[in-house]
Amino acid sequence: MRPPETGAPLRRLEGQLKVTGSARYAVEYALPETAYAWPVPATVARGEVRAVHAADALAMPGALAVLSHENAPRLGPAEDPILSVLQRPHVPHRGWYVALAVAETLEVARAMAAALRIDYAADAHDTVLTSGHPKLYEPEQANGGHPARRESGDFDAAYAASAVRVDATYTMEAEHNHPMEPHASTAHWVDGGLTVYDSNQGSTKVREALAPLFGLRPEQVTVVAEHVGGGFGSKGTPRPQAVLAAMAARHVGRPVRLALPRAQLAGVVGHRAPTIQRLRIGADRQGRIDALAHEILTHTSTVKEFVEQAATPSRTMYTSPNSRTTHHVAALDVPSPSWMRAPGEAPGMYALESAMDELAVALDMDPIELRVRNDPAIEPDTGKPFSSRHLVECLREGARLFGWADRDPRPRSRREGRQLIGTGVASATYPVLVSPSTAEASTEPGGGYRVRINATDIGTGARTVLAQVAADALGVPVDHVLIDIGCSDLPAAALAGGSSGTASWGWAVHRACRRLRALVEEAGGDEMPSTTLRAFADTAGEADAASDYARHAFGAHFAEVAVDADTGETRVRRLLGVFAAGHILNSRTGRSQFIGGMVMGLGMALLEGSTVDPVFGDFAERDLASYHVPSCADAPTVEAHWIDEDDRHLNPMGSKGIGEIGIVGTAAAIGNALHHATGVRLRELPMTPDRVL
Ligand code: MOS
Repeated sequence: MRPPETGAPLRRLEGQLKVTGSARYAVEYALPETAYAWPVPATVARGEVRAVHAADALAMPGALAVLSHENAPRLGPAEDPILSVLQRPHVPHRGWYVALAVAETLEVARAMAAALRIDYAADAHDTVLTSGHPKLYEPEQANGGHPARRESGDFDAAYAASAVRVDATYTMEAEHNHPMEPHASTAHWVDGGLTVYDSNQGSTKVREALAPLFGLRPEQVTVVAEHVGGGFGSKGTPRPQAVLAAMAARHVGRPVRLALPRAQLAGVVGHRAPTIQRLRIGADRQGRIDALAHEILTHTSTVKEFVEQAATPSRTMYTSPNSRTTHHVAALDVPSPSWMRAPGEAPGMYALESAMDELAVALDMDPIELRVRNDPAIEPDTGKPFSSRHLVECLREGARLFGWADRDPRPRSRREGRQLIGTGVASATYPVLVSPSTAEASTEPGGGYRVRINATDIGTGARTVLAQVAADALGVPVDHVLIDIGCSDLPAAALAGGSSGTASWGWAVHRACRRLRALVEEAGGDEMPSTTLRAFADTAGEADAASDYARHAFGAHFAEVAVDADTGETRVRRLLGVFAAGHILNSRTGRSQFIGGMVMGLGMALLEGSTVDPVFGDFAERDLASYHVPSCADAPTVEAHWIDEDDRHLNPMGSKGIGEIGIVGTAAAIGNALHHATGVRLRELPMTPDRVL
């Protein structure tokens, strides 16, 4: 029997297109008569546009139009209020779009935007989250449908009675996704129908959002996302550039290209909201946790409620008979936060896993041993059995590979010249999410097979892994399979988000291919019939069915840092992760995803942060020179390993999700290593030199 295609280190099918520059991105479609647009962000943090003086801009050679709430076409109802652009004079936050310049060239559009004079009536604004902020309230739900509050037992009494207690508050600045390719669209109207080449994480959703805004039926809208240069959550929901480009294209009667300038992204495409997280853990002298509280304060905008679900991992990770997990949010005059790189888990596990390290120090216990002692047999919050949980195995295997046994646990016990050296560990978890999708599989006239599904490859290798899934389901080698993705005219599918893409799409692809294989066998087995055979699959009702099992991926991170005792500069020397995330469907792209997540975790720990300027009222960092992401030199040795799980409670491929777990817990491992190196416990991210000293 041929070895299965899934699991093999297949190279990206579109790799050659990408490295030769022939892969087309959203603003690389050359349509005749294309015009260019440049959006204009509000310069007040709260208030109203009184007047838009466009005469100078419109007098420029090559100027085509200036759109604002005064003259922009009225849009239909928007499910997401951030898409209601140029409809009202109200300015809910600095950076909110108040106008759009359209011109023959990009340069003229930009010059027009600069020449616009906009009068505002500005109100006082309120943009800085504090722990005692009067606008904090308890919402009904945190994101993802999670209840904002869960309580079990009597936390207060148990905590008060605990022999060893940790009470620590961790704060994180906001962070921005900053994908390499900015949010961008090229819109084109033909015969009353709309085509948008758009950079997003799921174009079925973009089509569904655009159609009602422009009074169209979904089938009248085609959204193409053939290649996407990253999203990190910020393209998981439709963004205003698609609406603005479509609006402008209709207005000037020509295709319009709009790539958002990097400097504007912080205000309009979401961010990870800042959090203030209080952790209290009470344990007995043997390290058994009896009381655990994880309480989140965060912000949202006045445009919509978005509540980072950061306490949710504390409902899954460790046994505690008495627990409390809560979220409170304040609606401030800030840009709307959104999904970013393991939303919920990434900030939540930074706090929980830092507090676990503090508890281990207080107990004088090995931090791995502490986690092993509190590893639950069933999920603490739901009481459900885990479909599979190999956290302890990840910790043990990581300890072996990392050389944890040689560690002297005393802080400041290793020094090399000016460098203080330390090591740290933290756990990782991410839920198994999956959404219904549809797919079609067919035989090709000249032999071979074609699979059609509106999956989106945001740089992860989605095409490649789906070809592997299809090949195994069809029982053919992978080079017999063609994969069509990245267009909303294909069978509708879920977005690339929540680490759910491969599971969601793969499930539908697997079903369609199995059906097709049965049809082929009926029609005469291996002899390919001359007529095209087609099979369709829709996993609605199946992929989204409730499970009797708690389904999560787990992992363990190990970090070694060197801290310059004079400057406070912290360098990560080594990162090593071991993950248990079901069956890994492509060992090459899978490893890349784990490593990519870990490097993002490194960025979260040491570099990335967006600070709200209290005077202007929005984020101060507007480019990659001030918003730092790790470079290769920042991440010298990053190793990812995994334990391949055989879990029958997931999907036909047996996969969990791997896009985001790499980032979860990484920052805690680095912070714990920094404590081990220096004896200083930082409770604030990013851990920049000024905070280390
Ligand atoms: Mo990711 S933040 O779930 O798109």
